Amino acid sequence: MSQDDLKRHAAVAAMAQIESGMALGLGTGSTVRHLVDLLGEALADGRLTDIVGVPTSIQTERQALEVGIPLVGLGDREGLDLTIDGADEISPELDLIKGLGGALLREKMVAQASRRLLIISDDSKLVDRLGTRAPLPVEVIDWAVDAQVHFLEAAGASVVLRTAPDGSPTRSDNGNVFLDCSFTGGIEDPLELEQLLAFRAGIVDSGLFLGMASEAVIASEAGTRTMRNER
Ligand code: A5P
Repeated sequence: MSQDDLKRHAAVAAMAQIESGMALGLGTGSTVRHLVDLLGEALADGRLTDIVGVPTSIQTERQALEVGIPLVGLGDREGLDLTIDGADEISPELDLIKGLGGALLREKMVAQASRRLLIISDDSKLVDRLGTRAPLPVEVIDWAVDAQVHFLEAAGASVVLRTAPDGSPTRSDNGNVFLDCSFTGGIEDPLELEQLLAFRAGIVDSGLFLGMASEAVIASEAGTRTMRNER
């Protein structure tokens, strides 16, 4: 089975958690892409009705409109029933690194407005310690970026400005740029790092999603299983 087959299996399993009438946060990435297709099919053939979605990126918004999912703004609902999103790393406690797809800020805003955050993934994203497989994306404003590079290096990171194939900085849907931060041996204390970054002006947000996911549906060659956050 290809990795993309596994991503689709995780999305198929997550569909069982969607009920008619729900307001849903729609994540971003190649795994969620399958979910958006499946949701569009379920709405088209009447298996699900009365769903509204809040997209976490322009990319997801476009796809959702193409497949006929009605969309609303994040502020149009008092809260969302469920957000389904992918991840770049998943710890045993369901702490996450997200944002390699560039949508971390809107993903976190939508997840924080949701009663539940369900992660869908293939098993390659499982790690014992955050930061051992993927760099931590940090979204920063496009002014004095070098000052943030120095700050992050002082915090122990090797820092790379994310660039497009033409060499220009990759921009988020919010117009900001990304510093991808690698930590030798992984991130020792994710909460301490999250707090350090949160207090730093000019850093918009990081891809650390700590204590936010309630469940993760993980697809592997052996089948699909659900991990739960018991905290
Ligand atoms: C988008 O910014 C990310 O947080 C994605 O959710 C994450 O990169 C997972 O993407 P894939 O499903 O494409 O692996």
